[in-house]
Amino acid sequence: MESKKIKIGLIGLGTVGSGVYKTLEAFENIEVVKIAVKNKNKKRNIPNLDETIITDDAYEVVSNPEIDIVCELIGGVDPAFDLIKTAIENGKHIVTANKELLAKRGEEIFNIAEKHNKVILYEAAIAGGIPIIMPIKTILAGNNITRVEAILNGTTNYILTKMDVQGASYEDVLKEAQELGYAETDPTGDVEGFDAAYKITTLATLAFKKKIRFENVYREGITKVRAEDMKAANDLGYKIKLIASAKMDEKGYADVRVHPMLIPQDSTLAHIDYVTNAVSLTGHPIGHITLSGPGAGEFPTASSVVGDILAIAAELDTTDYLLPMMRCRHEELAKCIDISDTQNKYYLSLNAKNNKGVIGNIGNICAECNISLESIVQKNVSENNTADITVITELCKECNMQSAVKAFEDSEFINSVNSLIRVQI
Ligand code: HSE
Repeated sequence: MESKKIKIGLIGLGTVGSGVYKTLEAFENIEVVKIAVKNKNKKRNIPNLDETIITDDAYEVVSNPEIDIVCELIGGVDPAFDLIKTAIENGKHIVTANKELLAKRGEEIFNIAEKHNKVILYEAAIAGGIPIIMPIKTILAGNNITRVEAILNGTTNYILTKMDVQGASYEDVLKEAQELGYAETDPTGDVEGFDAAYKITTLATLAFKKKIRFENVYREGITKVRAEDMKAANDLGYKIKLIASAKMDEKGYADVRVHPMLIPQDSTLAHIDYVTNAVSLTGHPIGHITLSGPGAGEFPTASSVVGDILAIAAELDTTDYLLPMMRCRHEELAKCIDISDTQNKYYLSLNAKNNKGVIGNIGNICAECNISLESIVQKNVSENNTADITVITELCKECNMQSAVKAFEDSEFINSVNSLIRVQI
């Protein structure tokens, strides 16, 4: 007797959707019965595509009574939120790759799903092909995770790697990355750190088992990182990476952020280059673990989506409460620390007048702001008698560092504050 096929509805047939469709062809128990696209006339590189199941009305997917699992691969909050809500209300389980939706309205959709006893899986939303959601929620569930440090955006990691390897400027590498298709025409979501911030919001929520709100995640992109900073960081034994980080302190305060960071050259994340992603977790009893791999792309992302589909498919009609360990209950909201109250070490690049007493003046400003210096290096006295000075501070409070930057900007000795980048602690 032929067993019942699990029916899938796809919303979105772009890069990831195409990979999912092609990958699902290998599974006889799974059938894609409806696909919603924006433009029905677009030519697609999918050899066995059944054109008859394509619609440009996504509500035909979420209200199709045949469908068991709706797979949302369009991204963004609107109309994805309403489509997922309607699909759940119509009795469908959900697989999504939508990091923005999870970060901004995850609480609402998980509550709707729980109310209707449906599952939402989202392995592809964070770090593409790297299995990280299911491991945190299942095999690592016995851990008290206190720290997450990750490279969650391939575009920015590609740009920073190229800047490092070629000594090129941000602008030049971005242009090249856009020409090669690695960066979007409008790169804002990636280069300003939004993409990584969406991902760390959800990752931190899972790791700490407490809801982190997206608005409490500090975010800074890579657009101000200069080729000179890359070189200076290298000379000091560091690499510069866009790090998504989440820490939980002993008092129960979460510190969640995305910003460029100097990390030691011999650290694991310093070796994660180009479009590769990685997630490092620290907790008890596991200790320290890093997972790395492709963070985007047609087939790596399809690997995660299809894994989620198969996890739901395996339990459909076998139980009235599927995948209990994968459910999300946002019972408790995390207390979050504001960036201005955090303690950091800093790399500071100044351009100063090459006058007597300048180094002393820099030391005095830092002392007045309660900042102690770990190192100070002057290089490149130029023809116009200015000097580039690189400072690494000891641990100090962010608000004190911001006061020091203001004082440098007002100082008659300093021409410009070129860069301020936090150093990993
Ligand atoms: N735009 C993302 C990146 C991939 O560059 O890593 C999708 O999340």
